[in-house]
Amino acid sequence: MIRSRIAGTGAYLPPTIVTNDELARRMDTSDAWIQERTGIRQRHLADKGQSTSDLALEASRRALEAAGLSAAQVDLIVVATSTPDYIFPSTACLLQAKLGAKGGAAFDLQAVCSGFVYALATADSFIRAGTHRSALVVGAEVFSRILDWNDRATCVLFGDGAGAVVLTAAQVPGIHASVLHADGSLAGILSVPGNVCGGTIIGSPFLQMQGGQVFKVAVKVLDEAAREVSAAAGIALEQVDWLIPHQANLRILEATAKRLGLPRERLVVTVDRHANTSAASVPLALDEFVRAGRIKPGHKVMLQGVGGGFTWGASLVTM
Ligand code: ACO
Repeated sequence: MIRSRIAGTGAYLPPTIVTNDELARRMDTSDAWIQERTGIRQRHLADKGQSTSDLALEASRRALEAAGLSAAQVDLIVVATSTPDYIFPSTACLLQAKLGAKGGAAFDLQAVCSGFVYALATADSFIRAGTHRSALVVGAEVFSRILDWNDRATCVLFGDGAGAVVLTAAQVPGIHASVLHADGSLAGILSVPGNVCGGTIIGSPFLQMQGGQVFKVAVKVLDEAAREVSAAAGIALEQVDWLIPHQANLRILEATAKRLGLPRERLVVTVDRHANTSAASVPLALDEFVRAGRIKPGHKVMLQGVGGGFTWGASLVTM
């Protein structure tokens, strides 16, 4: 049976760092409030000239290099993003061109902060089906562009960045199992409820969130998804070496690890330095811990997404 495995990881953070203190000079907030409520200390923000595909390109180059593959050897590109360069063509097609490749399949996937886990599960299914041999799976965002910088309740929470993995066909997993879920009746608790019509923005182009509701649902579904994917993979939660939940908020991460009975040392945290980078957060965190030598070959890693839609999911992976 064909399976897929992660052959390389890569990430990119734009160089501009904005600390909580810098935000506090621009709006009525404080480092203490932000850290206490979210664990966030700083975020990276893309420069004006940088688009999602630019961030994705840097992360992809690093992932391909780590996997020892050229872009031409990848026959599938899936980009998870809610902040695409254009309405169309897809960011994946723009990325493919920037990588200098052509001919393989390329498409975007929209599941907000669950986007990377959705994309990973999708690419894994393509490889398992035998239709594709190697895939570049990217989460990339410039969320700073859809934030209302006058709304202190939301703008302090997010940052920009990109992460990528290369998946290749393998005889042994790799990806043991994935679970994906959505509940569209909760669309209103986290959204950018706008669209372009006749040259005008209809609705709002800015992120809106009911923070308390999001918190409650996130903790519940992250717990459920972890248990479900653990059962599907036949791997007990105690055997999981690293838990990488979507990096939304330190309180959500710690509550999830606690509910699952996983010690704090096995919880991967990057939200303090990256803030919430939506679809980029999980591959950014994975790459950071792989490159630091903390996540090692053979380790079992649980990746979890949760976000707008409402969407959620998890994958259990042996590195
Ligand atoms: N600085 C200072 N004060 C603030 C700020 C800020 N940046 N933002 C809001 N406040 C104020 C509010 O105005 C309010 O003041 P009031 O009591 O005078 O009305 C007070 O702080 C408390 O506001 P709450 O919204 O009740 O604060 P809460 O303790 O619930 O924390 C937070 C808000 C951090 C958003 C929390 O609800 C949360 O973590 N929710 C999860 C949401 C999340 O992580 N979203 C990320 C995107 S979703 C995802 O990725 C899954």
